[in-house]
Amino acid sequence: MPLPSPTDDITRGLNQRPASISPKYFYDQHGSELFEEITRLPEYYPTRTETALMQQHADGIARAVGPGGTLIELGAGNCQKARTLCRLVQPACFVGVDISADFLQAAVQGLRDDFPGLDARAVGGDMTQGVVLPADIPRKGRLVFYPGSSIGNFDPPHALELLAHMRELIDDDGGLLIGIDLPKDVQVLEAAYDDAAGVTAAFNRNVLTHVNRLIGSDFDVQQWQHRAFFNQEESRIEMHLEALADADVRWPGGARRFDQGERIHTENSYKYPLPVFTDMLARAGFSRAQAWTDDRGWFAVLHARP
Ligand code: AVJ
Repeated sequence: MPLPSPTDDITRGLNQRPASISPKYFYDQHGSELFEEITRLPEYYPTRTETALMQQHADGIARAVGPGGTLIELGAGNCQKARTLCRLVQPACFVGVDISADFLQAAVQGLRDDFPGLDARAVGGDMTQGVVLPADIPRKGRLVFYPGSSIGNFDPPHALELLAHMRELIDDDGGLLIGIDLPKDVQVLEAAYDDAAGVTAAFNRNVLTHVNRLIGSDFDVQQWQHRAFFNQEESRIEMHLEALADADVRWPGGARRFDQGERIHTENSYKYPLPVFTDMLARAGFSRAQAWTDDRGWFAVLHARP
């Protein structure tokens, strides 16, 4: 199936009622920098909790995975997590997959420099559309690495589909190492997505700057307010942008009027109870799972096998 162009994808979302913009458009250069800033905020616990878990259980992870295989990271970005994991599991081959292929190329070169002898590759591709790996990537002992609770961006049916796709990337001797964010106190969750310094608000609003550049629209970014709340029924954080005043937005070939208070849905971040997630893993073909969680039970790292 051919992918819709960003322009078609974005204008379709803007014309929906309610309007939406996919969270993948957060990550232009500035958005990626803002996200890195988010990961260092006192309120944003996921990154630091996951990092601590991986450090704490390094031996267990290394034992479960074993050396000499192929590490495949989805959404590899700056390859910072890959660097740590390569030290831990000593793969023969690393494959970084990311939408922004140029940025990834540079990061993968950095990995080659740090790990002489590592066969490190960069593959440009959109995770959400099912990655196709080059045919010459070794199949033996593949480990798919999907950290950061990124799976939380997808609704459960789509998440299941992605997990099934990850299962197809590996043989019976392979595995999946994945981080998921767990349900917790609403105040803790909401603070993580609406921090006091306003970094998440800036990150959310920046999507409009990026969209203006991508489709030539004229969103007045200052006229949109950040909203983030936990939806209990769906067990997800929702982020929206809310119009502070009536707004007429135009772009080449289209327009949309937003009334004051009207929202654009920009992100979901699902929080899965551990048993719900292991059940999803099983339905995707990963019948064995080992989970590590922190003392507060806020985050989990799982190693899943067919
Ligand atoms: C990158 C999808 C894991 O959902 O926590 C952080 C993105 N959005 N703050 C998340 C995000 C607002 C993040 N993920």
